[in-house]
Amino acid sequence: MKRIVAIYPGSFDPPTNGHLDLIERGANIFDELIVAILRNPEKHPLFSLAERKLMLESMTADFPNVRVETFDGLTVDYALTVKATAILRGIRAISDYEYELQMALMNRKMHPELETVFMMPAERYSYLSSRLVREVAQLGGSIQGLVPPMVEQRLKEKLDPAIKLRNARSPRTGKNASKYEKRTGKRK
Ligand SMILES: Nc1ncnc2c1ncn2[C@@H]1O[C@H](COP(=O)(O)OP(=O)(O)OP(=O)(O)O)[C@@H](O)[C@H]1O
Ligand SMILES: [Mg+2]
Repeated sequence: MKRIVAIYPGSFDPPTNGHLDLIERGANIFDELIVAILRNPEKHPLFSLAERKLMLESMTADFPNVRVETFDGLTVDYALTVKATAILRGIRAISDYEYELQMALMNRKMHPELETVFMMPAERYSYLSSRLVREVAQLGGSIQGLVPPMVEQRLKEKLDPAIKLRNARSPRTGKNASKYEKRTGKRK
């Protein structure tokens, strides 16, 4: 029987629960789903490619038919190299539709045999974008529930490097922690 491989391309800067929702839906209908992070030298991402890959790998560890890769150049060319026959994209609102339709038709013009499949996330994620998450986090707002806890932590560390330094120097329950720290979770 023919195995259907799909790619899910995007910048995932950072990956959100909306992306995860779509990955879950995609993993349910495709035999194999490749989450493909676009290497875009023109954009100045908040997270490096390696950081985004690690976050997505940890988020998708429980899906045996999902893997995470990076690519550059045309999405359609990448799809062909990994023998994908479908491109998965998410539609949140009408505003996504125009752009996505344009891209899907252009991709079809280049490679007619490649099908773009659109999926809608759960309503609770339908307003969620990486850009909004970056903006809210940068301004100190809460992004709890919008991204997995591990991404939330990474965002905090990225935006306040002092937190990372403190955590590295003070393993609160580790053997280097003082009695006071172990008892209170605080440093003297
Ligand atoms: N909350 C969401 N629900 C459904 N699809 C989504 C959601 N967020 C992103 N997507 C889809 O995932 C794909 C990759 O998106 P991308 O990496 O550009 O994320 P983004 O949230 O749109 O990021 P940015 O805000 O930086 O553009 C696109 O098809 C996009 O429509
Ligand atoms: Mg986008």
